[in-house]
Amino acid sequence: MSEYLPGLEGVPATQSNISDLDGNLGILTYRGYPIEELALNSTFEETTLLLLDGRLPTADELAAFEKHLRASRVVKYNVRDIMKSLPATGHPMEMLQTAVASLGMFYPGDECLTGGMQCQDLNYVHNMSVKIIARMATIVANWEHVRNGYDPIPPRKDLNYAENLLYMFSGEDPDPLLARIMDACLILHAEHTINASTFAALVAGSTLASPFLVVAAAVGTLAGPLHGGANQRVVEMLKEIGRPENVRPWLEEQLAKKAKIWGMGHREYKVKDPRATILQKMMRELMEQRGGNMGPLFETALALEEACEEKLAPKGVYANVDFYSGILYLEMGIPPDQFTSIFAVARSAGWLAHWREQLGDNRIFRPTQVYSGESKRSYVPISERHAK
Ligand code: COA
Repeated sequence: MSEYLPGLEGVPATQSNISDLDGNLGILTYRGYPIEELALNSTFEETTLLLLDGRLPTADELAAFEKHLRASRVVKYNVRDIMKSLPATGHPMEMLQTAVASLGMFYPGDECLTGGMQCQDLNYVHNMSVKIIARMATIVANWEHVRNGYDPIPPRKDLNYAENLLYMFSGEDPDPLLARIMDACLILHAEHTINASTFAALVAGSTLASPFLVVAAAVGTLAGPLHGGANQRVVEMLKEIGRPENVRPWLEEQLAKKAKIWGMGHREYKVKDPRATILQKMMRELMEQRGGNMGPLFETALALEEACEEKLAPKGVYANVDFYSGILYLEMGIPPDQFTSIFAVARSAGWLAHWREQLGDNRIFRPTQVYSGESKRSYVPISERHAK
């Protein structure tokens, strides 16, 4: 009998050269480049091309890619009409999954997805990736206005991806530091080896489903609080704690009842998530720029991380990427229930890089199981069945 490992912990599900992490040393690289260097020097557009193509682009290649992305931002009014018919109270991730899946109906043409080597039509794969990545931000920002009863703010071609995303939320030119932080957040969330949502994308991709459905499968998987949904929970948790002085009694109470501390812990990292370290630095930079006056949420987060380190470090549980991203998004005027959608916008780059890699050497995922049910037995007519 095969050994069953719950959560497939430690079981390689694919072979990939897109990203790598060392959970004991807290190192994350995309195509070999350390995440710290990318967050500091790259842009989301450049990092996306790096993930898709496997190498840093030349200036001309990047300019062409940016132009293509900017030209692909507009979403057809039919998709906005679909959004308008969705309940405003629904979760933005449910809207996003619906809208991305519906895009596939407007951009059909997956006839080159025929299996084997024929899947390597790189033009098709690249164009579909651009169509999706460019529109993810528009869909997410459009929803903010549609659900509040207003017309969406159309995208602008003169702004980069991060600036335009913030602009489509607020309708105002974004603050340069906040736009730079958003750009870094997008880079940090763009890819992370074979996590649950990327695995979902691979499984869907391996059936040769259209890339819109591949991304829709991944969006649905990212939505849960044990994955991308944690950043929203972090802010709700910090609001519940209220002030830094409440942190320790609150933490004692939570740990006593074995509750999860959102934004803490990671299956792969046994030290602090390197992305959390970068985001924490950015938060401090923002605090300095604002003269230290950032309100209790920031102070509470710093105090909670310190207290958690004392209590949870022995279990290898430290802050993960979601711990600080939500507070930064809040500062950018993004409502908490849209935090996971921003994560999805960024991660679409990684999902599509994995989709491309999967198609290059595809075999449908069809794992096995360890059956633990009844052995073969005969059907019992309903008249002969008795309540137990
Ligand atoms: N708060 C409190 N304790 C935690 C914890 C957290 N966030 N994360 C893990 N632990 C504890 C577990 O209770 C367990 O303790 P025990 O050995 O005494 O039972 C131990 O650490 C190991 O945790 P486990 O749940 O087995 O780890 P996992 O690899 O299965 O789960 C996560 C990883 C991410 C699902 C888990 O850490 C978690 O739920 N974190 C909060 C949600 C979150 O922030 N998700 C975003 C991830 S990027």
